Amino acid sequence: MEKDLKQLKKDAENKIAAAESVSQLEQIDQEFFGRKDGKLNLILKQLKDLSAEEKKSLGQEANDVKLELVDLIAKKKSVLAEKEIDAKIKKEVVDLTLPGETIATGTLHPASQVQYELEDIFKSLGFMVLDGPELESDYFNFEALNMPEHHPARDMQDTFYVKTKEGEPKQVLRTQTSPVQIRAMLKYGAPLRAVVPGRVFRFEELDASHENTFSQLEGIMIEENLSITNLIAVMKTLLKGVFKREVKVRLRPGFFPFVEPGFELDINCLICGGRGCKVCKQSGWVELLPCGMIHPNVLRAGGIDPDKFSGFAFGLGMTRLVMMRYGIDDIRLLNGGDLKFLKQF
Ligand code: FA5
Repeated sequence: MEKDLKQLKKDAENKIAAAESVSQLEQIDQEFFGRKDGKLNLILKQLKDLSAEEKKSLGQEANDVKLELVDLIAKKKSVLAEKEIDAKIKKEVVDLTLPGETIATGTLHPASQVQYELEDIFKSLGFMVLDGPELESDYFNFEALNMPEHHPARDMQDTFYVKTKEGEPKQVLRTQTSPVQIRAMLKYGAPLRAVVPGRVFRFEELDASHENTFSQLEGIMIEENLSITNLIAVMKTLLKGVFKREVKVRLRPGFFPFVEPGFELDINCLICGGRGCKVCKQSGWVELLPCGMIHPNVLRAGGIDPDKFSGFAFGLGMTRLVMMRYGIDDIRLLNGGDLKFLKQF
């Protein structure tokens, strides 16, 4: 058995010396010291036939041989591993002068571009930019805006009602951004300057200028002694900021229960230059910016004293503004998800 041990040591040393890779060393380790049929174990199996004395001394010797060889393998392994890593790094050297891979990035949707521009214009005029819930209570969407249940003005906005349990407040997909007027008044009081961009929803018959999901930008300004002159000045600043030039507008009376007086500000259709097309329904004008002086009842619902403060509000049809700005002749293109269309912006 002693002879076997010596032979094993010699064989192993030769193999370790000849090994050229870490994986070869791992194989050698397995061959000699593998738990099941490693060569050393096979030799050690013979111990059982020896005397106690011999068992002790040969057992000790076998252990020493194992420690020596394991150490040898570890040392060689670390040398070879280092060499292998060096070789790998050399192979993987990165040529920093090569052109990089271009990662396709999207662009902002035209509606977002216009929204961010509008936000900047209004921030420069001292307005806050606020947000509000798209699932809104019937109270904020209609009632607090001077449109109690059964008020005929509710018919102007076909509404998606959401089923609620009996006794719970009625909920709607908001038909306008105007409910945030009340929320803002209750939260911030007066004086107040805020705009609220956001999606609104209506059960509409779709055509070139009507979507069921579109965006508005609500604006509200409340101070002492505000008048229609202030309202018109802000509307003009808004339109000049967006179109970067004077555009022809007309102001006509408009009815909304939450303003008094109320106006419709229409823009000369920029798709057809006012000659008449499917977007302006051959009229040459596009309804864009309803507005007016906030009704005293609405100020009261927002906790503001109408004898002390007055204010104006407007509800810009942001999606239609995007159409006018970029000459888009069908509103359905904007939510259509057609990349060929969207990549133009
Ligand atoms: C309103 O929604 C009022 N809340 C606006 C308002 C606010 C008035 C504050 C006074 C004071 P109206 O229903 O007209 O108003 O909608 C406002 C604008 O949204 C319209 O001028 C139009 O540009 C746009 N709009 C209305 N319906 C649609 C639709 N189905 N698709 C796309 N744009 C629409």
